[in-house]
Amino acid sequence: MENFQLVTTLCALLLSTTFLEFSVGVDTLFPHQTIGTGQTLISQNQMFEMGFFSPGTSTNSFLGIWYKNTPDVVVWVANRNNPITDSHGVLLGIAGNRTLVISRNGSIIWSADSLGVATNPVLRLLDTGNLVFADKESESSSQDYYIWQSFDYPTDTWLPGMKMIDDADAGVEKYLTSWKDWDDPSPGNFIFRIVNQGLPEFVVLRGTMKMYRTGNWNGLYFNGIPRFPDAIFDPDMLFKEERLISMVEPYDSSIFKRVKIEKSGITHLYVMNARKDKWNIASVYPRDPWDEYSLCGPNGICRIDRATRCECFTGFAPKFQEDWDLQDWSEGCIRIRPLNCEGGDGFVEVRGVKYPDMLQFWLNSSMSLSECKAECLRNCNCTAYANPYITNGGSGCLIWFGNLIDTRDVIGADIKQNIYLRVSASEVSEIVPESNSDLDKEKEKKRPIKLILISMVSGVLVSVFINRGILLMTRRKRRAAQKKTEDLESPVFKWATIVAATNNFSRENMVGEGGFGPVYRGTLSAEEEIAVKRLSRTSRQGLEEFKNEVILIAKLQHRNLVRLLGCCIEGDERMLIYEYLPNKSLDCFVFDQNRRTLLTWPKRFDIIMGIARGLLYLHHDSRLKIIHRDLKTSNILLDENLNPKISDFGLARTFREDQFVAKTKRVAGTFGYMAPEYAIHGKFSVKSDIFSMGVVLLEIVSGKKNRGFNHCTHCRSLLEHAWLLWKENKILELMDECLNDTFVESEVKRCVQVGLLCVQKYAEDRPVMSSVLFMLGTEGAVLPEPKEPGFLIERSSSTVRSCTAASTNYEKETMSITDLEAR
Ligand SMILES: *[C@@H]1O[C@H](CO)[C@@H](O)[C@H](O)[C@H]1NC(C)=O
Ligand SMILES: *[C@@H]1O[C@H](CO)[C@@H](O)[C@H](O)[C@H]1NC(C)=O
Ligand SMILES: *[C@@H]1O[C@H](CO)[C@@H](O)[C@H](O)[C@H]1NC(C)=O
Ligand SMILES: *[C@@H]1O[C@H](CO)[C@@H](O)[C@H](O)[C@H]1NC(C)=O
Repeated sequence: MENFQLVTTLCALLLSTTFLEFSVGVDTLFPHQTIGTGQTLISQNQMFEMGFFSPGTSTNSFLGIWYKNTPDVVVWVANRNNPITDSHGVLLGIAGNRTLVISRNGSIIWSADSLGVATNPVLRLLDTGNLVFADKESESSSQDYYIWQSFDYPTDTWLPGMKMIDDADAGVEKYLTSWKDWDDPSPGNFIFRIVNQGLPEFVVLRGTMKMYRTGNWNGLYFNGIPRFPDAIFDPDMLFKEERLISMVEPYDSSIFKRVKIEKSGITHLYVMNARKDKWNIASVYPRDPWDEYSLCGPNGICRIDRATRCECFTGFAPKFQEDWDLQDWSEGCIRIRPLNCEGGDGFVEVRGVKYPDMLQFWLNSSMSLSECKAECLRNCNCTAYANPYITNGGSGCLIWFGNLIDTRDVIGADIKQNIYLRVSASEVSEIVPESNSDLDKEKEKKRPIKLILISMVSGVLVSVFINRGILLMTRRKRRAAQKKTEDLESPVFKWATIVAATNNFSRENMVGEGGFGPVYRGTLSAEEEIAVKRLSRTSRQGLEEFKNEVILIAKLQHRNLVRLLGCCIEGDERMLIYEYLPNKSLDCFVFDQNRRTLLTWPKRFDIIMGIARGLLYLHHDSRLKIIHRDLKTSNILLDENLNPKISDFGLARTFREDQFVAKTKRVAGTFGYMAPEYAIHGKFSVKSDIFSMGVVLLEIVSGKKNRGFNHCTHCRSLLEHAWLLWKENKILELMDECLNDTFVESEVKRCVQVGLLCVQKYAEDRPVMSSVLFMLGTEGAVLPEPKEPGFLIERSSSTVRSCTAASTNYEKETMSITDLEAR
C-alpha cells in the first residue's frame, strides 16, 4: 500500500519537476529537482562527484560517486543490485518527504531505505564523499543527523569518515563487498569485515569461507600485522566490553585515501599523490602467500624463513607425509604422542606468532599467564594457552581447545606474542624452544664445511673451519640483546665507555670511513664488540630529537637488519653504536673471483629474500617508516652463516631531511644504486629504495657491478645489459656462470624480472616491497612486464673501490655526493 502511495506521489512529483540548472560546484539537490543522465552533483570543494555512470564497456547504468579528479575511481554505487539497462529517461529525485528514488518513466528502479521523514529535505554531496539526505530544519542544529547517508551502505570502498561495524547487540554490521568484475559493480565474491566472535579481527571471506584473517586484536594491533594501525591509516576504534565494535578513519581534507577490496579478494590501501592526480598503493592485504587461511592445515605453522613454508608444531607430525612432501599441507599435522591429562603434560613456547583462529576457545581478560597455564592443565581438552593482550606486559587468558589453525610467524611481533602449546611431558625435555636454533642447525647441515676447531676463548665461542678451501674463523658472541640491563633501558652510551672501548678512537681501531664519518671498532667486554660511527658535524639536529630518533630506531629488530644499539653524545659530537659484525659485506663475495663460488644459487636466493624481508620491515612492518636511501651491495653484511643483514638504515633519518635536500641541495647516496628521480631531483621515497633493491638484486644474480660495468660492448651499465637481454628473451645469460651447477631456472628468471621491475624509470611503475617479496617468493606468480629501466649516466668517474680491507662495510668508500641543480 505504502509503495503504491509512493509511486503516486512520485508520478505527481515528476510531472511538476524542473531539471536542476547545473553549474560547477552545485552540491545540493532540492525537492522538485532531479538529476538525469549526464548531470552530476559536485561537492563543495570539488572533491567528489555524483551521477549516473556506466563502468568500463558496460551498457548498464548506475548511480555512483567518484573522485572529481580521477573519475575512474568509483567509491560508491547506489543500485549495484539493480542495474539500469536502459538509461533513457532515468532520474534521481526526492520522493515525498522521505526518500530518494531512481525512477524511469514513473516506475521505481531503486529507492533508499530511509527511516525518517524530513520537513524540508535536501540531498547533498559532501567533500568526504558522503551523500546525505538531510532535513534542512535540523541540519543546522545537529550536523550528524541525517535521515539517510551513503556511508551507511558501503560498497567496495572504505573512505575516511565511514564506519566499519560489527555490533551484534545493536544488530548493525557494515562491511565491504567486492565488485563482481571491473565493469560490474554487482556484489562479487569477497567480503572484508570486522568479525567479533572471540577477539575482534578483520577477515576476508569468500562467501562464508575465510580466506585471510589479520589475527586478533591484542590491545595494540591485530596480531598478524604489527604495522597496522600505521602512520597512514590510523583509525579510531570503538570498543564495547573489549569487543571492537567499529572502526573509522578520521577524515582529513589534506590527504585522500581509501581502502578497497578488489574483485580478487585482495585489499588495497590507496593514497593519492600530492598533485592529486594519481593513486598509489600504500599497503596490501594479504601481504604475502603465508597469509592464506589455514595454509599449513591443522596444527601446522607457517615459517616464513624456512625453505618449506609449513612445519608441524612440536610434538606433531604430518598427517599424510606424502602429501606433505609434495607441499600439500592442507591436511595438517597430528599428535605424535598422546597427551596424558593426569599430570603428564608440559608446554612449549612458540614465539612471535599470529595466534591460531579462535574456533573453540575460552577467554578471561583478567587472569595472569600462570593462572592461565593452571586453567589449561585443568581441562583435558585444552591444547594451548596465551595472553590475549600484549598490553601491561601481557595480560589475560586465552585457551584453545582442539586443533590449532592458521598460525604463522610474524615479523615484528611483540615479545609477549607467544603461545604455549600443550605437549606430552616426554617432548618437553627434547625441545629447544629458541626457534632460531633448529634453523641454524639445518643451515649448518647444508653447508659443505669442515670444522677444524671449536673453542672458548675468554668467553667467546671461536670456530675455525674450511669451506671450499678457504680458512674461515668465526666468533659467536653473545647476542647484543643480552647487554647489561641498564644499557638496554637506555641506549645512550657514556662518553667514557666509548673512549675506553675504541682506545680513544685510535687509528688502529678505525675500520673505515663513510659519507657520514669514520667508523671505529670497539670492545665493550670480552664478549661484546661494537662499531662506533662518529658522525661528521654537519648534522644540526637537536640533541633531544637525535636521542629520540636513535631510541626509536634502536627498537627496530629484525634478523635481516644490523642492530643499532644506541648512541653517544658528547658536546656537539654524535655517535651511533652498532653491533659489530666481523664478516665481510656481500660485495666481497658476489664480486670476488674466489669467494663468489661460496654463494650457490640457493644461498643467493636466500640472501635476496633476506634483504627483501629486511627492507619490507623498514618500509612497512616496523612502526616507523624508514627509507634507507643508501641501499647497496656493500651495505649488506653477512653473518657467519652468510645470512644478510642490512646496515646503515635509519642513518638518513637522524640527519634532518632539509640538510640533505633543501638546505645543501645535496644528495647522499651512491652512484649505480640511485634512482633517477633521487639523483636528479633529490626526491626520495620507498620507491627510490626499491630501485636500489633492484640493482642489488641484479648484481647478486649476475655477479657484476652496475657501476663500472664493462662486460658488453653495446651497453654502459648492468641495467642496460639486463634490459637488452630481457628484450631479446635471453635473461638467463645474465646469470653468473659460476651458478651453472646450482641454479633453478624459474627462480633466476623471476629474480631478474623482479629486479627489472624494481629499476623501472618511473617511480610509480615500481612495485612496493610487499609485492616484491610476494613476486620473489611465489612460484608461478604472474609478473608484470617491466618497462625500460632508469639509466643514469655518470658524468664524472670516481675511483672504483676494491674489496681488500677487512670489515669492508666500514671501508673507505666515500659516498658520492652530487650537487643538485638549483630549482
Ligand atoms: C513535506 O513536508 C511539508 C511540511 O511538513 C509539507 O508541507 C509538505 O506537504 C510535505 N510534502 C510532501 C510531498 O509530503
Ligand atoms: C512511459 O510510460 C508510458 C505510459 O505508461 C508509455 O506509454 C511509454 O511508452 C513509456 N515510455 C518509455 C520510454 O518506456
Ligand atoms: C576471570 O578470572 C578472574 C580471576 O581468576 C575471576 O575472578 C573471574 O571471575 C573470571 N571471569 C570469568 C568470566 O570467568
Ligand atoms: C572435552 O571434549 C569432549 C568432546 O568434545 C567433551 O565431551 C568433554 O566434556 C570435554 N571436557 C571438558 C573438560 O571440557
